[in-house]
Amino acid sequence: MKIKPISSYSKMSKLAAKIVAKQIINKPNTVLGLATGGTPLGMYRELVKLYKKGKLDFSKVTTFNLDEYLGLSPEHPQSYHYYMYENFFNHVNIEEKNIHIPKGDTKDPVQECLNYGREIEKVGGIDLQVLGIGVNGHVGFNEPNINLEAKTHVIQLSNETIRANSRFFKNLDKVPRKAITMGMATIMKSKKIVLMAWGIEKKKPILKVTSGHIATEVPASLLQVHNDVILIVDKKIYPSSTVSNSLSYPEKI
Ligand code: PGA
Repeated sequence: MKIKPISSYSKMSKLAAKIVAKQIINKPNTVLGLATGGTPLGMYRELVKLYKKGKLDFSKVTTFNLDEYLGLSPEHPQSYHYYMYENFFNHVNIEEKNIHIPKGDTKDPVQECLNYGREIEKVGGIDLQVLGIGVNGHVGFNEPNINLEAKTHVIQLSNETIRANSRFFKNLDKVPRKAITMGMATIMKSKKIVLMAWGIEKKKPILKVTSGHIATEVPASLLQVHNDVILIVDKKIYPSSTVSNSLSYPEKI
């Protein structure tokens, strides 16, 4: 895992956008895995800027979002579908047919998961996956558990996630309890991964992700097994002076 401590949210967003841009320039028909939430917002803004300056072309790019709340229609302002169009897709030249987001209002979630997984396999998997991290160490909506699902599946959201995400809803009761998420195997099969973490509330999970220990109770810790992960991380969580060739963080967890 390459670790890049950064001093501002804006620098993190610019660096992540640069990595995505480089990927698309090198491989115009790139398959991108995309994340939602507060973390990647700045990166999407930067990518839109690069597109508007004529530096990026999304016409051959395919995207797969990590997850979607079950029970929310694409028009729901808190759905990830809505978020993606509002913050990114409406502002770049991506083709509608190349955009994939699990259907939150599906009548048959199990079938939807199967279809979603098949679509990812059909294009040969994800070239570059963008990830945030939950306060409980989840990636996508793969919640801490003794067992993790490999493929796209329906998941019961943890209380920690429901609490954390309630900031986007009117109140806690409005947060959906279930979601569809790509599984850990799908994420781990991505050829390259960019993980972003900003804000002191991400310190606990990030220390675990860089500890050298792997546990399904911290799903993001599995990323330590992947051979091409770049972690762009808030300097307050992970000062530059602690970055070494070793994966281990010097502090005891
Ligand atoms: P955030 O969420 O970017 O809104 O902090 C990250 C996540 O839950 O994966």
